[in-house]
Amino acid sequence: MADLSIDPSRLHGREGYFLLTSLVVPRPIAWVSTLAADGTRNLAPHSYFNAVSSDPLIVHFTQTGEKDSLRNVRATGEFVVNIVSADLLEPMNLTAADFPPEEDEFAWAGLEAAPSAVVAPPRVAAARGALECRLLDIVSMGNGNMVFGEVVHLHVAASVWRDGRVDPTLLRPVGRLAGSAYAIVTDITKIPRPTYDGLRDARHGAP
Ligand SMILES: Cc1cc2nc3c(=O)[nH]c(=O)nc-3n(C[C@H](O)[C@H](O)[C@H](O)COP(=O)(O)O)c2cc1C
Repeated sequence: MADLSIDPSRLHGREGYFLLTSLVVPRPIAWVSTLAADGTRNLAPHSYFNAVSSDPLIVHFTQTGEKDSLRNVRATGEFVVNIVSADLLEPMNLTAADFPPEEDEFAWAGLEAAPSAVVAPPRVAAARGALECRLLDIVSMGNGNMVFGEVVHLHVAASVWRDGRVDPTLLRPVGRLAGSAYAIVTDITKIPRPTYDGLRDARHGAP
């Protein structure tokens, strides 16, 4: 078979979505907890998620269309990103069901909620990491509504902390692949980053 060369304007239905989400992989998952204006707890995974700034700490997740998480963030200005370790894959997946706004996904998934330190939405007690966030901005592009939040408090479980860092072998984070496929991080390779000076010296045979 020949390689594929694709003009996105010729794609139909969800073909573009499947192509994009099978090439942009693995995606980290923000398991976002929010509160509705009436206090109903909400929890939903978002794999359009990443770090944006480290000074100050800023993250973003994107909601496709407008669902409960986005509505709640608009109403309250706060959310928590819970980190998904391998043992939380099933409850995380359950919270992606199309629950109506009045349903509490923490209860449906049998998840214990822990109080946050500085924001109102609770966090997932079993998550080894959680980022409490205050809304900075919502930027809409295409069918995506990008929610940017400043991290105002962080939680890290002692069980994943080793030698002053989060140890990925203990965190066992889950990444999303296309469809219902996930990657669990277990195979970790380390490679030091080169410097220009080092590369130049190596090329010119520095002693
Ligand atoms: C692993 C995973 C990642 C997902 N990522 C996103 C995403 O990035 N954006 C999105 O809008 N929906 C995403 N979804 C679907 C939402 O979780 C789902 O529509 C959910 O019902 C939205 O909940 P809400 O109405 O409480 O916001 C994802 C689902 C799964 C299982």
